[in-house]
Amino acid sequence: MDLPRQLSDLIGADAVLTAPADIAPYLTDHRRLYRGTAAAVVLPRSTEQVAQVVAFCNAARIGVVPQGGNTGYVGGATPLEAASIVLALGRMNRIRTVDAANFALVAEAGCTLAAVQDAALAADRLFPMSLGSAGSCQIGGNLATNAGGTAVLRYGMMRELTYGLEAVLADGSVITQLSPLAKDNTGYDLTGLLIGSEGTLGVITAACLKLFARPRATATAWVAIPSPAAALELLGRLRTASDGQLVTLELVPDTALALVLQHIETARDPGLRSSPWYLLVELASSGTRDPVELLTQLLAAAGDAGLVLDAAIATSDAQREDFWRLRESVPEAQRHAGGSLKHDVSVPVASLPRFIEAGAALVHQFAPEGFLVAYGHAGDGNLHFNVNQRPGTDATAFTSREAPLRRAVHDLVAQFGGSFSAEHGIGRLKVEELRRYAPPAELAAMHRIKQALDPHGILNPGKVL
Ligand code: FAD
Ligand code: MLT
Ligand code: ZN
Repeated sequence: MDLPRQLSDLIGADAVLTAPADIAPYLTDHRRLYRGTAAAVVLPRSTEQVAQVVAFCNAARIGVVPQGGNTGYVGGATPLEAASIVLALGRMNRIRTVDAANFALVAEAGCTLAAVQDAALAADRLFPMSLGSAGSCQIGGNLATNAGGTAVLRYGMMRELTYGLEAVLADGSVITQLSPLAKDNTGYDLTGLLIGSEGTLGVITAACLKLFARPRATATAWVAIPSPAAALELLGRLRTASDGQLVTLELVPDTALALVLQHIETARDPGLRSSPWYLLVELASSGTRDPVELLTQLLAAAGDAGLVLDAAIATSDAQREDFWRLRESVPEAQRHAGGSLKHDVSVPVASLPRFIEAGAALVHQFAPEGFLVAYGHAGDGNLHFNVNQRPGTDATAFTSREAPLRRAVHDLVAQFGGSFSAEHGIGRLKVEELRRYAPPAELAAMHRIKQALDPHGILNPGKVL
C-alpha cells in the first residue's frame, strides 16, 4: 500500500496532503533559500495522532520532519529526502490552560508565539519571549530552536522560560512533564535536552511555559552612542542601577538604520544627532518605580561621561513602536537591499567591542564588495554580523565571498570563546560548522544521544549532526 494512503488510514484523509500545490509551501523555507521534497505533509490534531504517525514512520523507516511556522533561518524545517514526511503542527493550536496563580500556561506546539503572548496578557501576566516573527512562528518551533530574541537580557532564552514539555519520541512513546514545578530534580533533564534539539530527538507537542508579572510601565529610548565600547559601559551601568528593570539593549549601526529608512516605508527617522552606532534600550517595571524617570537620569549621567551622544525617550506608545520598528525592520530592510552574508554569533559580552573591530577588518579583507551591518542583541553578546553588498559592485564576486568570510568570522568567534550559532540553530546550514568547531568529546556524546533516542535516524534526517 502507498504511504499517503497508510497515513490517511491512520489519522484521516483530511490530515494528509499530497497534491503538489498543497505541499509546496511546506517544502521551502520563508526566504526560499532551501528547497526539499517529501512524500506527504501530515497535519495532526492531537498528541495521540502525532504518536501514531511517528511510531508508524519509525517502523517503516520513514523520515519525519517537524515543522512549525517555518520562519527558521537554517533550513531545519525543510525536508531533504523524498522518503520523508513533513509533520506540520499548526492544527495543534490550543492553549490548554492558563494558570495565573502558578504563573504558568500550557500551550500546544502549534500555537503562534503571538497567541501565547495574548493569552498571558488576558490573564494579566507576561510571556516575555519577543521575536520579530511572533505572528507566524510557533511555540514548538521556538522550543525546538531554543529561540532568543530581544528580551533575553532579563528573562532568558526559551529553555529558561519552560517548566516542562510533552513530546513524542521516535518510537512513538510520549513523555509528559506539564507541571509548573520550580524545583524538580528527578533524574535527567529531558525537557532541557529536547529544547534546542531542532526536531532531531523528539516532536514537541505541548509545553508548560513560565509567565511573569505584567509590566505596568515601560521606558523605551533610542540612543546615539559613539562606539560599541560605550554600549558595553552603558550596559554595565543600566544593569547595576536599574534593579532588574533592563529588558532590552539592542545595537543598531548607522548602516542598518540607513537601510531601514531607505527601504521601510513606515520607518520614521528619530532625528537624533548622526552617529556610527545606536541603541534601542527598554526598561520595564511591574511595580511602582517609574522607569522613565530612572532611564532619563541614567542616560543623562551617561551623556556627561561621554557614553551617549544624543537620546530620545518615547513619550507615547506610537513613538515606542516607531523605535522598535527601526530595530525589528533591519532583516527586512537587508532583504530589500539584496542578499546578505549572515552570521549569527555570540561572544562573551565584554569582548563585543574587540570582536566587532576585528570582525570589521575581516569583512574589509574577505568581502571588499560588502559593507558591515552588525546589529542585534548586544546585551547578550549576540550579533547578527551580516554583510550587505555595496551598490554598484559585482554580485557574483560578492556571493563568492560567503564561504571564505564565514570561515574567517567563525574562526574569530572561536578565538573569542564564542558561538557560531547563538540563537538560530544548526539545521541544515551549519552541520559542517558543528563538525568543525564542536569539541570532539561533545560531538561524540551528541551522536550517542541521537543513537539512543532515535536509533533508526527517522527524526529530521540530515539536520544538526
Ligand atoms: P520552524 O522554522 O518551523 O522550525 C525550526 C526548527 O524547529 C526545525 O528544525 C523544525 O524541524 C523544528 N521544529 C518545529 N516545530 C517543532 C516541534 N513541534 N517539535 C520538534 N521540532 C520542531 N529567532 C531568534 O532566536 N531570535 C530572533 O530575534 C529572531 N527574529 C526573527 C525575526 C524574523 C522577522 C524572522 C522571520 C525570524 C526570526 N527568528 C528569530 C527565527 C525564527 O523565527 C525562530 O527560529 C523561531 O523559533 C522558529 O519557529 P518556527 O515555528 O517558525 O519553526
Ligand atoms: C533578529 O534578531 O532580527 C533576527 O534574529 C535576525 C534576522 O531576522 O535576520
Ligand atoms: Zn536575533
